[in-house]
Amino acid sequence: MNEEILKQIELPKHIGIIMDGNGRWAKQRGLERTEGHRAGANTFRTICDYGADLGIEYMTFYAFSTENWKRPPKEVSAIMKIFRDYLDEANAREAENEKRGLRFHLTGEKKGLPPDIVKNLETLEKKSAGKKVMTVNLAINYGGRDEIVHAAKALAQKVKRGEIKPGDIDEASISENLFTAGQPDPDLIIRPSGEYRLSNFMIWQAAYSEFWFSDILWPDFTPDDLDRAILDYCKRNRRFGGV
Ligand code: FPP
Repeated sequence: MNEEILKQIELPKHIGIIMDGNGRWAKQRGLERTEGHRAGANTFRTICDYGADLGIEYMTFYAFSTENWKRPPKEVSAIMKIFRDYLDEANAREAENEKRGLRFHLTGEKKGLPPDIVKNLETLEKKSAGKKVMTVNLAINYGGRDEIVHAAKALAQKVKRGEIKPGDIDEASISENLFTAGQPDPDLIIRPSGEYRLSNFMIWQAAYSEFWFSDILWPDFTPDDLDRAILDYCKRNRRFGGV
């Protein structure tokens, strides 16, 4: 983004991205769907680094939903392999992450994920815990409803232990028991690939988010597209239910 423009705008603090369209991108090229996911992972790398360079404080990437387990086993294992490769690489490029100030955080259920992936994610979270510029939420094995169930169970346990009363449960305590605890809600949610739905992505946190849709397939998404989404967002007038 042009430096002058960047100085004049108020960037969204938190951007959520639904990385969709990998399969169609591959099909258009006569490739296997998994090639589309590989290309999508490269786009993720580019957009993640670019977001940090712009100064975005939080980005959440929807990489694998709780519903995606229903895909053919071959595709699921290919996606898991992509995660493994990425985590190995991210754990290895510590100096680069340090320089960019990237902090990684899993926003998804550990239960159900292959143990080696959980271990590598935890290592990455620990290694990057002190970084300051941008938090990268990896929504892997993530479902918005599942996340709310998770929060409800955590709060029920607190009631059972006598730490809180049922009447203490409010919007803030639910937010504090989501995977995004302590983070601002997403200001902007981007969905490429011509679909106009949330698909169970951050359904609690998206209550006042602005949405940006586009026909671009995720592997074709570029830093210029992120600029466009941000600039459109900046033109909108957010009232949060007020006047
Ligand atoms: C949706 O496209 C995409 C996925 C279910 C997988 C997304 C995963 C990645 C982009 C890899 C991310 C990598 C890292 C390292 C975080 P689709 O398959 O539903 O596309 P389609 O709608 O065109 O079929």
